[in-house]
Amino acid sequence: MDYLQITKSPSLKGNVTISGAKNSALPILAATLLSQNEVHISNLPDVVDVKTLAKLLEHLGANIAWENPNTLICEAKQIIHTKAIYDIVRKMRASILVLGPLLARFGYCEVSLPGGCAIGARPVDLHIKAMEKMGANIQIKGGYIIAQAKNGLKGADILFDKITVTGSENVIMAAALAHGKTRIINAAKEPEVVQLCEILQESGVKIEGIGTNELTIEGSGGELLDFKPIRIIPDRIEAGTYLCAGAITNSSITLENIQPTHLAAITDKLEEIGFSFNKSTDSLTILPSAKLKSFEVITTEYPGFPTDMQAQFMALATQCEGASVIEERLFENRFMHVSELQRLGADIYLKGNLAKVVGPTPLIGADVMATDLRASSALIIAALVSEGVTNIHRIYHLDRGYESIEHKLRGLGVNITRLSR
Ligand code: UD1
Repeated sequence: MDYLQITKSPSLKGNVTISGAKNSALPILAATLLSQNEVHISNLPDVVDVKTLAKLLEHLGANIAWENPNTLICEAKQIIHTKAIYDIVRKMRASILVLGPLLARFGYCEVSLPGGCAIGARPVDLHIKAMEKMGANIQIKGGYIIAQAKNGLKGADILFDKITVTGSENVIMAAALAHGKTRIINAAKEPEVVQLCEILQESGVKIEGIGTNELTIEGSGGELLDFKPIRIIPDRIEAGTYLCAGAITNSSITLENIQPTHLAAITDKLEEIGFSFNKSTDSLTILPSAKLKSFEVITTEYPGFPTDMQAQFMALATQCEGASVIEERLFENRFMHVSELQRLGADIYLKGNLAKVVGPTPLIGADVMATDLRASSALIIAALVSEGVTNIHRIYHLDRGYESIEHKLRGLGVNITRLSR
């Protein structure tokens, strides 16, 4: 199995180009199921999750031609299956994103129920309830969501009890092809949700309220859509992760191909810690700070501080002066990285969904295990300032969402090697 070996790399410099957003690429790939034309998608991140969703689409009968590792053409007119099988869904929960489009288009589908995951129970009850509200009959049998809507889905008022990103995306895609008007109240407004709405709007679907918590979508009544070429937005979480690498080493590095407004919650927090930035329209340079102050963070929905950056900021907190407090509000079990950071010497106290991190603490390299995608990147960040050598195991998590991570880090001066044992 592959692992990453990182030797303390106390000072970084240079530029890093940020890839396309995984969490935008996934719903957009699922949305190609609503199209009648060949869809050209560029700036896709070359990561395992994207390849998994492409495989799922191929399994359903779509034709996918890769122009290069970041660009594909998808033709989904001739879909032959409507069953998203366990073997693919178990690899990636986001496969649930085919539920809305398949059901809206074919009036029938079976999607393997995604199981639990490392960061908590993560149910899909809100996705299911919304589809039922749109007229679907849903049964859970043999581990599958079996959904039926004989006369197609009907527009409805959907009120989400909790803001859900992929839940909102599933309803948005279903509503685009449904009969009549759908109103989504308490919709997610992450930039990735906004991009999905925009590409549907460009294909002719009437959508009001894009970027707000209330969306109104006029369905096409079953008629397939015509998508324009799509360029995936930059990955704000990948960008935030590199910013944390720059911050923990108190270095100046430049991020290219970013959307600074999407990073506001992250850069605001880094400013609170003491860093400053040179910003342009699509790049950002983090500048060193005289002192790293402790901070408080509460994870919440966009535009608040993202849960997907919680682990990386926890690594950073180990080098800040004083006690930082991190509250995880979205996922009940997203502190698996704590015990691994403690193996490096971090001083962290956990109580429920609160973590107190006392710093600055000298960290010492050790063997550590990645437990989920973002936890893996937190371990890399901590390894940069850990004395000696850190070996990070189970890095398949990392490959799910970070394109060319060793290459990019090496370009910034990190001493990193991928090894196998
Ligand atoms: C998406 C992101 C993930 C990010 C998360 C929160 C993708 C592919 N993944 O995941 O990176 O960490 O948003 O920003 O975009 N919930 C329910 N019932 C449901 C659905 C969700 O109770 O049917 C709960 C979840 O357990 C969680 C909260 O709602 O506590 C938010 O989860 P959600 O926004 O749905 O996360 P994902 O869309 O799975």
